[in-house]
Amino acid sequence: MNTDPSSPLLLFDSGVGGLSVLAEIRRLMPDAPVIYAADTAALPYGEKTEEQIAARVPALLGRLVERYRPRLITIACNTASTIALPAVREALDLPIVGTVPAIKPAAALTRAGAIGLLGTAATIRQAYVDNLEHEFAQGKQLIRYAAPALVAAAEAKLRGETPDPAIFAEAAQGLRDRAGNHEIDTVVLACTHFPLVEAELGHALGQNVQFVHGAAGIARRVAHLTKGQEFLRKSPDSALFTGKEEDVDDLLPALRQYGIDHIDRI
Ligand code: DGL
Repeated sequence: MNTDPSSPLLLFDSGVGGLSVLAEIRRLMPDAPVIYAADTAALPYGEKTEEQIAARVPALLGRLVERYRPRLITIACNTASTIALPAVREALDLPIVGTVPAIKPAAALTRAGAIGLLGTAATIRQAYVDNLEHEFAQGKQLIRYAAPALVAAAEAKLRGETPDPAIFAEAAQGLRDRAGNHEIDTVVLACTHFPLVEAELGHALGQNVQFVHGAAGIARRVAHLTKGQEFLRKSPDSALFTGKEEDVDDLLPALRQYGIDHIDRI
């Protein structure tokens, strides 16, 4: 294992979604050097095939590991984790923390017994989700709804734009239509982009609905796996993007709020 104190934690997502996870990691581990990597050239992952994601994610992370020697990788993306986590663990010899839909805590919280799950189209069709449902939500209704427009809304919000409220109203209505007679009281935000628009979603779904996502649990896991390790930030934290520079420049003000000082290209 890499124990160089300046070795970073690498967080990976298709876009800005992983910042919702980074916020929790910062809270627990303010001294940890971080590299935030986003595959913006391939955003959105949720509209890709399993084959595309399974081919792309391990290869890209392999390149980043060679170049930046992180001590640990957090795949801060449900889509990439539910599809490619085993392949990444197989390919890379360092601790990998994944992000999986928070069905277990949601099942413990729901009183009505009906849980909504908002994710990308790719995430909600994964066997990984079927298995979590089977294991943790027996006797409960899990109502899945793909809401790709929320990914674009979160990206827009972090660029300083105001997303159209109709996007959130549509996601809320889509979930309710699927729920039929069931009264959803708990919604799993099964895409790391969605906590970034939690307030807007809360407004659309109403105050009787509570949201659950995995960011705090992921941060605890990262802290646990790096317990006792020394951290030294030698240079300001940076973000790496695969997409065009002009497409990401306007994200810098938002990135600064997450302690990211500058953007580089992968
Ligand atoms: N943030 C990603 C997730 O957690 C996916 C967004 C996308 O690229 O579609 O699933």
